[in-house]
Amino acid sequence: MGKILVTGATGNVGRHVVTQLARAGLEVRALARRPERVPAGVEAVQGDLTVPETLEPALKDVESVFLLWPGLSTGNAAEVVSAIAGQARRVVYLSAHVPGGENAAGHYGDIERLIRHSGLGWTFLRPGGFAANTLGWAEQIRTSGVVRWPYGEASRALIHEKDIAAVAVHALTSAGHNGAAYTITGPEELTQAEQARVIGEAIGREVRWEEQPAEEARERLLAAWGDAEFVESALSAWKSFVTSPERATDTVRLLLGRPALSFRQWAEDHAADFR
Ligand SMILES: NC(=O)c1ccc[n+]([C@@H]2O[C@H](COP(=O)([O-])OP(=O)(O)OC[C@H]3O[C@@H](n4cnc5c(N)ncnc54)[C@H](OP(=O)(O)O)[C@@H]3O)[C@@H](O)[C@H]2O)c1
Repeated sequence: MGKILVTGATGNVGRHVVTQLARAGLEVRALARRPERVPAGVEAVQGDLTVPETLEPALKDVESVFLLWPGLSTGNAAEVVSAIAGQARRVVYLSAHVPGGENAAGHYGDIERLIRHSGLGWTFLRPGGFAANTLGWAEQIRTSGVVRWPYGEASRALIHEKDIAAVAVHALTSAGHNGAAYTITGPEELTQAEQARVIGEAIGREVRWEEQPAEEARERLLAAWGDAEFVESALSAWKSFVTSPERATDTVRLLLGRPALSFRQWAEDHAADFR
């Protein structure tokens, strides 16, 4: 099997893709803006996805690519996909599941379309919410033991980043995944208030939920994230998950032959982040 290039190699998912591929003895190269942050023992090449000309050394002699797209717009993805197609044969793209939709939406849908028309063999991973999103509560939990956040009854089947990586590695290293789009989630649906409680159990200290009015959340999130459109879309997604929970899928089990990791397992793996 030829060399695999992993983008986002210092992030939640890519870090595990790199280590799981390296552990399996496969040839892996990590793309990073700051290569010193790539897991030790792995070939790292400096490059920036928003500056396509920096990708040439990273793509040299590569057969497959694990691609994630940073940011919230399609930007120069067309140039990047075309650079990948000029060198590699396959891409596994970390897209996103849009509840109720057959296809990915927004920039995810744009990039899926670019890849479909690129000539590359492709597999799309469409995860629901990441368990790692709850790291956004870590400071509140550390300092007060309370999560003050909107829509405590919003329910999602959050996925462990290790499972996203394991599915990516499976798709990169075994046959039969060309042209497949996998909707992947954690094994069970939990409300946000339940997620906070489970984090408390993992760290051995009660964590309480305090419902934050959406208006107050809007102001806080705008100050923190600075992108009004993104804040609105996050708030409206959480609101929708109150009445239409994100449903768990069986895809991780079907692909990997073992159940998806639970949110409790994720919280135990990340207990140090919340203490
Ligand atoms: N959170 C969710 O619920 C959710 C759900 C569905 C899909 N997604 C998608 O999943 C992806 C995020 O995955 P993640 O959580 O593993 O990532 P992450 O932890 O946020 O890390 C982002 C990674 O992308 C790299 N990166 C950022 N800008 C870059 C650039 N210009 N050029 C090259 N590399 C760059 C970062 O590397 P540096 O070390 O250089 O910063 C880092 O390795 C996003 O595409 C997101 O849209 C997220």
